[in-house]
Amino acid sequence: MAAKICHQLLGAFLTILVLQPLVVKSRPVKLGSHQRSCGCPGGPTSGGLDVNMNNSLSSERWLKFPVTYGFRSGYVVPPGLDHKAVTSVIDVAFGKWKAAVPDPQFAFQRITPGDNANIKINFTPLPGYHGYGYYPPNGSLYLDNSHTSWSTKPSPAGNEVDLLSAVLNVVGHTLGLADSTDSNAVMYPILNYGSIKRNLSPEDISRIQNLYLYSMSHLELAKSI
Ligand SMILES: *[C@@H]1O[C@H](CO)[C@@H](O)[C@H](O)[C@H]1NC(C)=O
Ligand SMILES: *[C@@H]1O[C@H](CO)[C@@H](O)[C@H](O)[C@H]1NC(C)=O
Repeated sequence: MAAKICHQLLGAFLTILVLQPLVVKSRPVKLGSHQRSCGCPGGPTSGGLDVNMNNSLSSERWLKFPVTYGFRSGYVVPPGLDHKAVTSVIDVAFGKWKAAVPDPQFAFQRITPGDNANIKINFTPLPGYHGYGYYPPNGSLYLDNSHTSWSTKPSPAGNEVDLLSAVLNVVGHTLGLADSTDSNAVMYPILNYGSIKRNLSPEDISRIQNLYLYSMSHLELAKSI
């Protein structure tokens, strides 16, 4: 029972990208956090498939590759963004995560529509957040379309959120990574307005490798399509 509740809590973990209020540019403020806090016996570090002390969620990861991703059918990009630019940003983000794990089997494939993809992308109103990423095997990836001024430009304006920086973070969650406490990491849950963080940090790379690289040979590989 406890274990079941624990599992549901893990599945419902939300990615939080809370940005500083525009008026207080020098002081990022984290507005809220739905961290996994699971007092269950045999919690996330000891349950599941594998114990890996470097990643508290090592049991929450994809087991079949390539992992597919795609936009849910009927998705609508918010005003100011165009489908092509958004798709390209998403592809770049998956490419950066892929590049961090030097095993050719660790791969992603975009499918259209994405309703049956492992990672299903959609825009939706996310009050208080800019993006949500659910851990595997849920894999839902949501980006806000109600209060966020997204940018796909080389330099976002001071009131804009850089789409690639945000997508790197939420994709990391959909791959199974929790928040980082390292402010240089893309997995750090705070991103300042107008700032960019378009490359994985050494810590991001080491965490995704700890989650996948040393166990790739144990994972089941889907037939290549
Ligand atoms: C954790 O990571 C360090 C280096 O990043 C590595 O030396 C160590 O073996 C890892 N531990 C586990 C349990 O994976
Ligand atoms: C992912 O979890 C959310 C929240 O529990 C739920 O609404 C959604 O339907 C789930 N999606 C999938 C594909 O399991």
